[in-house]
Amino acid sequence: MIIRKEQQSDHEAIKSVVTDAFGQPDEAHLVDMLRTDGDIEIALVAELDRQVVGHIVLSRMISPETALGLAPISVLPTFQRQGVGSALMREGIKRAQDNSWERIFLLGEPAYYNRFGFAAETAAGFSSPYAGPYFMALELAENFPDESGGVAEYASAFSRLGADET
Ligand SMILES: CC(C)(COP(=O)(O)OP(=O)(O)OC[C@H]1O[C@@H](n2cnc3c(N)ncnc32)[C@H](O)[C@@H]1OP(=O)(O)O)[C@@H](O)C(=O)NCCC(=O)NCCS
Repeated sequence: MIIRKEQQSDHEAIKSVVTDAFGQPDEAHLVDMLRTDGDIEIALVAELDRQVVGHIVLSRMISPETALGLAPISVLPTFQRQGVGSALMREGIKRAQDNSWERIFLLGEPAYYNRFGFAAETAAGFSSPYAGPYFMALELAENFPDESGGVAEYASAFSRLGADET
């Protein structure tokens, strides 16, 4: 499996992967809006035998400015539970860290994201309409975040779509 940066030539395949993973078009629409707005900082595909089977997006947040929002992450249903999502998560986190981002926020299932170090406690100091057990954050340790509270606000595409779930 190869994890690499998405290319323009991947856009159609990505649309299919995201739509099939979620079983609806909303998240693929979110990816399009984030791209059009120029808010995507990291977008990776997982490729197996030259087929795009997974995709992850990390976008810059309105607040804190030093944080990324991770959403959506998608793996084609027939390729799920084979480690594709984990490989995308690990590489996405690594690239965020390499690029000196201080934190990553996401909204999702704790049972899945805890294994990568995301915790609701880490997000608890930030106010958000999504605050609660599913709203989690990861501090990228080497970057020593200088803010530990305030408002956590995703890129504007999320509120325009009205769907911030990963
Ligand atoms: C969530 C998703 C990206 C995970 O990708 P994946 O390639 O299947 O994940 P991996 O193979 O790396 O990991 C599989 C593990 O995650 C667990 N897992 C997968 N999705 C989960 C979920 N929504 N909640 C809890 N655990 C989940 C599996 O049980 C499995 O656990 P195990 O290793 O203990 O058996 C993928 O299932 C997907 O695209 N789902 C549909 C879209 C979606 O719901 N995205 C995010 C929602 S939070």
